[in-house]
Amino acid sequence: MKAKLILDKEYTVGEIDKRVYGSFIEHLGRAVYGGIYEPGHPQADKNGFRKDVLQLIRELDVPVVRYPGGNFVSSFNWEDSVGPVDKRPRRLDLAWKAVEPNLFGLNEFMAWAKEAKTEAMMAINLGTRGIDAASALVEYANHPGGSYWSDLRKSHGVKDPHNIKLWCLGNELDGPWQVGQKTSDEYGRLAFETAKAIKLFDPTLELVAVGSSNRHMPLFPQWEATVLDHCYDKVDYISMHEYYANRANDLPTFLANSLGMDQFIDTVVATCDFVQAKKRGKKQINLSFDEWNVWFHSNDADKKLEPWTVGPAQLEDVYTFEDALVVGTLINSLLRHADRVKIACMAQLVNVIAPIMTRNGGPAWKQTIFWPLYHASKYGRGTSMDMKVEVGCYDNATFGDVPWLDASAVRSEDGKSLTVFVVNRSPDQTIELGGSFAGLEHFKLKGHTELHHADIKAINDEAHPNNVSPVEKAVKASTAANLSVAIAPLTWNVLRFEE
Ligand code: AHR
Repeated sequence: MKAKLILDKEYTVGEIDKRVYGSFIEHLGRAVYGGIYEPGHPQADKNGFRKDVLQLIRELDVPVVRYPGGNFVSSFNWEDSVGPVDKRPRRLDLAWKAVEPNLFGLNEFMAWAKEAKTEAMMAINLGTRGIDAASALVEYANHPGGSYWSDLRKSHGVKDPHNIKLWCLGNELDGPWQVGQKTSDEYGRLAFETAKAIKLFDPTLELVAVGSSNRHMPLFPQWEATVLDHCYDKVDYISMHEYYANRANDLPTFLANSLGMDQFIDTVVATCDFVQAKKRGKKQINLSFDEWNVWFHSNDADKKLEPWTVGPAQLEDVYTFEDALVVGTLINSLLRHADRVKIACMAQLVNVIAPIMTRNGGPAWKQTIFWPLYHASKYGRGTSMDMKVEVGCYDNATFGDVPWLDASAVRSEDGKSLTVFVVNRSPDQTIELGGSFAGLEHFKLKGHTELHHADIKAINDEAHPNNVSPVEKAVKASTAANLSVAIAPLTWNVLRFEE
């Protein structure tokens, strides 16, 4: 089969906000306890932060990490997590039926974020709490001193303000599972008033309003329209969440999910623009896809867990090679919408539906899905190109015509290189890829990295951490003008061109 990539140096989607390579740490399962924080572990530093995990996170170069939830945040009292550790209460976390010992909290997270070379995206509890607790938290975190909450922070040994720029106004408040679920009008009003108070404190802070928990929610996209009708003036982003599964073991449908993500993004963009038009507004609301990933492997195991323990092995999906392919296509979808998706967080970062796994007391390793995120974070910074892919399709009952190839293209910030990310969805057809790169014909193919495994269900685990790993392919000397590169069946590919 033949296919062709068509792009023009003048036609772009938009600048890629590096925060699309964000991630998420929730107080859930072993994300914190046994994941990023494990005092007594041979690799723990003086703060109890696991250095082996930090090393892998730095490799991923994660620009922003959402914290502390998720469903957890909707019944969380942030004040429990600061001050002398021996005075902090143990609480029942209603969201995940676990015990939260509050050994690791706001100030520990900010110290950890510095080590991980990342920024915080802090979520506020708008489930059980409201404007007052939110304002207090922002003052505690960001005010230099001379007020009750900022002086309390200083008394906790944190002299300088954290200057957290990005805040989430709650989490999934349309969901019946959420503690403190709200109607769209209730939430919209609360988000507006909370945002107003936060922006009175500092108008430069960036705020994310809660969108639908996924695109199958009964109120989607009316929820977004109503919420933004209330808080358009005060917020900057609307959140999106979606998880993808292969419960029916139907690979052609599973691999087509990026088409669903494309549609989801297009619908939310249309809704934001509808509200903007209705308000005769100047401000464009952008998207924060702050939870996305594959999630389904651990569902049955989670039903058998004992409730009310600290750091149970919850949501520990062990990812297969096919999951890595799907993650690659989802990243392509985010990049194809770089003009509007400014923040995206793979959910989550360690142990809990995560690219990094650990054993308590033992090693840390890369799951299969680590690789596409690593490649995109490393090579996918700059400008997203408006690329057309000429390729055949297969027919799918859920998604209709599904192209055999899923791709995105990124021109580097200095303009000197171009990277194309391609997934071949075909189980048996190698695709001969040609190109037409107007204005960039002279770019030479310099590298071809491929992720593949003969067994679509192959995993990485403690004993075989490199079972699914990328390889460097030999490249034939060619320019974009005479490109001919073989894209093998069921592969994630990184094609690197340079001037
Ligand atoms: O990421 C796991 C959970 O999925 C989050 O806590 C919640 O927001 C979503 O439903």
